[in-house]
Amino acid sequence: MYLKRITTALAMTAALPVLSAQATDLEVTHWWTSGGEAAAVAEFAKAFDATGNKWVDGAIAGGGGTARPIMVSRLIGGDPMGAFQFNTGRQAEELIEAGLLRDLTDVAEANGWKDIIYPSSLLDACTVDGRIYCAPVNIHSWQWLWLSNGAFEKAGVPVPANWDEFVAAADALRDAGLQPLALGGQSWQSAGAFNVLMVALAGPDALVDIYGNKNAELAGGEEMARVFKAAADARSMAEGSSVQDWNQATNMVVTDQAGGQIMGDWAQGEFAVAGKVAGKDYTCLPGLGVNELIDTGGDAFYFPVIDDPEIKAAQDELANLMVSPEVQVSFNLKKGSLPIRGDIDLAAANDCMKKGLEILAAGNTLPSTTQLNTEDTNNQLNDLFVEFFNDNSITPEDAQARFVDIVSSAE
Ligand code: GAL
Repeated sequence: MYLKRITTALAMTAALPVLSAQATDLEVTHWWTSGGEAAAVAEFAKAFDATGNKWVDGAIAGGGGTARPIMVSRLIGGDPMGAFQFNTGRQAEELIEAGLLRDLTDVAEANGWKDIIYPSSLLDACTVDGRIYCAPVNIHSWQWLWLSNGAFEKAGVPVPANWDEFVAAADALRDAGLQPLALGGQSWQSAGAFNVLMVALAGPDALVDIYGNKNAELAGGEEMARVFKAAADARSMAEGSSVQDWNQATNMVVTDQAGGQIMGDWAQGEFAVAGKVAGKDYTCLPGLGVNELIDTGGDAFYFPVIDDPEIKAAQDELANLMVSPEVQVSFNLKKGSLPIRGDIDLAAANDCMKKGLEILAAGNTLPSTTQLNTEDTNNQLNDLFVEFFNDNSITPEDAQARFVDIVSSAE
């Protein structure tokens, strides 16, 4: 009997996750506070706690535009957190240059990140002067239109198959007492919607040429004039959308009060927590149904330099955990994003996520504006477009002239 008890105990021990030799508390800051985002980040916390360490959650409400300055001031003020979320791309450039963030190259090489992270552009976006400074955790694409099937049923018109059909349905939605386009007041939402219209109507090469090559001539040309006129259509459709946060605007679509929202695929997390089914309750149009593509934006975690071997070991463990197959599945299914590796089974993915995976596999991708622009340029674009979407006295021509100025002075 004694032997059986020992054998059972050993078997149970074997089933436990590999516990860290040292249990360490790690404060992790991020801006994931909506229903879907919180459900997703809980998967990271659960997996990290299972190693015997402790995820100390440092959620900051108000979105990235609010959270990033708070995180930066802590880092330059000598009060670093253990790890933090930024968008994949150029946002952390100055923090890296200031030597405040850990070089993860040894961790990445020891764990084969270069072989597992796909597309490799995600790791390139973490690389400065040949050294790797972040762990990408998902692919989020802005290039989506989310439509409420119920709203179009109430309006007595078919669910649109593309942007032009959505614009044409606006009056019917209004007549049914519904909000055609849901848009929140956070400035990045207006700039994001404009950039998605640019990709759909002027094409991905135009966005990459304007933001990547700072092509001011293209920014001021006829092709972009058409995009600004479409943005004025979107402005009319968004009139009356008096919410602030992106997930409040998403909720208008989830509850059939609005026809649609241009938003990144993190909106999926909100539909999921509301128990909504893709295809049945809502329709997703990648590239606004005009140009089926996705951008390879998303999120990555950075790890401040802290002179404590236990913290450093816990940071390494968390970085590897976040890119592991199991955590990539559990986190991304809740987040509504795509995984950063191609060797996992997302059988539980819904129809919209499957569309995204097919587009990714076909290589119909483009870089995100957080990879092409500096934080400063993106903040200037946010200011321009939140003013444009909220002030009808700003003509498309006025806005385009200011757009050219921003592109001309971008670094
Ligand atoms: C983005 C981030 C997403 C999503 C969104 C809204 O910057 O990449 O994960 O959460 O903000 O908060």
